[in-house]
Amino acid sequence: MMIVRTVILAAGQGTRMRSKLPKVLHPLLGKPMLHYAIDAVQREMDAKPVVVVGHGAQEIQRAFADQALFVIQDPLLGTGHAVQQAEPVLKGQAEAVLVTYGDMPLLTRRTIDCIIAAHAAHTGPITMLTMIEEDPRGFGRVLRDTRGYVTEIVEEAQASPDQLNVRELNPGVYCFSADWLWQALERVPLSPKGEYYLTDTIGIAVADGLSVQAILLDDPAEGIGINTRLHLSEAQAVLQARINRQWMLEGVSIIDPLRTVIEPDARIGEDTIIWPDSYILGSSVVGSGCVLGPNTWVKDSRVGDGCRVFASILEDAVVENRVEIGPYAHLRSGAHLASGVHMGNFGEVKNSYLGSGVKMGHFSYIGDAQIGQDVNIGAGTVTCNFDGVQKNHTEIEAGVFIGSDTMLVAPVKIGEGARTGAGAVVTKDIPPNTLAVGVPARVIRALKKRE
Ligand code: UD1
Ligand code: MG
Repeated sequence: MMIVRTVILAAGQGTRMRSKLPKVLHPLLGKPMLHYAIDAVQREMDAKPVVVVGHGAQEIQRAFADQALFVIQDPLLGTGHAVQQAEPVLKGQAEAVLVTYGDMPLLTRRTIDCIIAAHAAHTGPITMLTMIEEDPRGFGRVLRDTRGYVTEIVEEAQASPDQLNVRELNPGVYCFSADWLWQALERVPLSPKGEYYLTDTIGIAVADGLSVQAILLDDPAEGIGINTRLHLSEAQAVLQARINRQWMLEGVSIIDPLRTVIEPDARIGEDTIIWPDSYILGSSVVGSGCVLGPNTWVKDSRVGDGCRVFASILEDAVVENRVEIGPYAHLRSGAHLASGVHMGNFGEVKNSYLGSGVKMGHFSYIGDAQIGQDVNIGAGTVTCNFDGVQKNHTEIEAGVFIGSDTMLVAPVKIGEGARTGAGAVVTKDIPPNTLAVGVPARVIRALKKRE
């Protein structure tokens, strides 16, 4: 096996993004662009890739401390100069050096494996990827001689009108023989732009009488390099299509894949149906046989089997099986709905447990509460959990019936089987199996115990 080490270039400012954030930290489906570049080159048993950083170095190092080694490029003198910064770390460590750019999030492991295998089977010092695309996107053009051998890469800024018409482009993925690379980089001339271009190593190899092997990318989408926010949105669309396609093949129905966003770490069970304008984000896990959407946002949440979530927002929430939510419900951090809960229109639940079979049909706020089984929460009920200083707890035991528009002034406890009348303002605990009414609420009679 050929020993390969990887260098990922990520020092550039990304001027064309027009952003304070370093380009490679711009998120793509919830993860920074550089995450994808690192993920694609990660091979089992291999050492971590070396990431060349410059602009925003500290921020990038902080974000990827565990996944990569870092070298600093300062000043930024071009892609050839950038690779040179990795020499002290890699010299003598590998037979081949794979170089990719941190702004290419769509490259797949399959393509990386393919270029490495091709390099291992080849005697020349460079194996590079090329792609054919109608829109040249400012990429370097790949020039070939009459016999079809690659002779040179010209950057768009330096290309002649004829060369500009070339549609074979350089996506920026190369495998170099290590020893050859380090000495060739010393011979790269200064470009008219005042930079040392990595792409000039191609011409240097050819001038040395050595051959450059080109591998044509079959899916040009993999070669999308991101220089502007327009490119970012194109890349997001491709990634989204890949992920949605995978889930559809795994048994999830997606009514309109162009209007459904599923982030890479989310998981979804078979026979779940996703209506348009829905987002399943972060580490969310959705069970099987659910119907989500339209207009639903599920982030870092767990949804069990057979649930229905209609036009609602779930953030950091847990929902067990056969739960109905929405339309227009909001589950915030720490909301936990046990099996069979019904949470209808315009409800909000935060940091609360709703026991199995709880019904909360309309316009209620439940915060910092523990609610037993089969409780009925009447329309407009509010847990008044905040006294202006701290959050207070509400406890509602099993089988309670809360009348419409009840205000539960926490801390407060409603005993098992109790009821409140419509409009009650409950300021004191209510004993089990009693009826309390009024403002402030008082107990007016005992109730029959429930079976
Ligand atoms: C580069 C290639 C071009 C190719 C295109 C594909 C060169 C000279 N040109 O052009 O042939 O078609 O990518 O996307 O290589 N970087 C550094 N240090 C530097 C300059 C750049 O680390 O001093 C990094 C950037 O952060 C970026 C990558 O190298 O991740 C490419 O730089 P960029 O400025 O985007 O080059 P392009 O003009 O796109
Ligand atoms: Mg670029």
